Amino acid sequence: MNFEDWYKRSQDQAKDHNISIAELDWLIVAIAKVERLHLKLRDINLSGDQVLELDGLWQQRIKNKTPIQYLIGKTHWRDLELDVSSAVLIPRPETEILIDLAVGMNDPNSDSIWVDLGTGSGAIAMGLALGIKNSQIYAVDCSFEALAIAQKNAAKYNLTKRIKFRQGFWFEPLSSLKSQITGMVSNPPYIPTSEVNCLDPVVRDHEPHLALDGGIDGLDCIRNLIQTAPEYLISGGYWLIELMAGQAKTVRSLLETNGNYQNIQIHLDYDGVERFVSATLK
Ligand SMILES: C[S@@+](CC[C@H](N)C(=O)[O-])C[C@H]1O[C@@H](n2cnc3c(N)ncnc32)[C@H](O)[C@@H]1O
Repeated sequence: MNFEDWYKRSQDQAKDHNISIAELDWLIVAIAKVERLHLKLRDINLSGDQVLELDGLWQQRIKNKTPIQYLIGKTHWRDLELDVSSAVLIPRPETEILIDLAVGMNDPNSDSIWVDLGTGSGAIAMGLALGIKNSQIYAVDCSFEALAIAQKNAAKYNLTKRIKFRQGFWFEPLSSLKSQITGMVSNPPYIPTSEVNCLDPVVRDHEPHLALDGGIDGLDCIRNLIQTAPEYLISGGYWLIELMAGQAKTVRSLLETNGNYQNIQIHLDYDGVERFVSATLK
């Protein structure tokens, strides 16, 4: 099949399956290495093998519902181009707000230590390293596969000296930093177990459940972070997480009940959803 016929058929498939044409165009630009403008002007000439390769990937998007980012192996987040695989959650646009919140909290005149717990692709750790100049970042994940991707992403942006990677459970691999951490940022798994199977198949069948499943009420990891952070943060240190719509008020009461936190605040995402909670250690 020539490119023009394949492209028309693929656009129809996208419409039939409610997939944005932008995903198809992104696949073509990334895999066939053509300029977006040339695609728009139909000024491209692909071999039969190239069209076959594109079609193989596109059918995985249509039939298996594989996210386009996994097929391309890359995604864009803030001003970064990150490698992704099915070992890591695809970083979401709303998570970018965590970086702005952390940068706004940080005192630019002091050196600081920030940690990204559950780093996945390394997106948050890299955003922190780039946004908070005089900081040392620690990025933790229990998944070796995720850490390998995060390290590769950090190396691409020359951030391997600024970010130290640690494998383990939440704060556990940071025992040498007790009472020294300026700020903790985390986008932990927060979906209640019973809801994971109801997610869109693009997410449910492809993204790691380790990154999604937050236990019976979705709050297992968040409770752990509330309980353990006081041992690790400096007095006045920051606690900042992303959570699911509907969880913010419960998390605020958990922080209040814990007794070690003050300045507890709920922050909205781009859609006005209560998506983030921050607090400072007393
Ligand atoms: C929702 S994903 C967030 C990934 C990335 N920070 C982001 O925002 O795109 C949660 C991450 O937490 C990691 N994780 C799950 N349980 C963990 C644990 N007990 N200790 C450390 N990391 C954990 C998962 O492997 C996953 O990478």
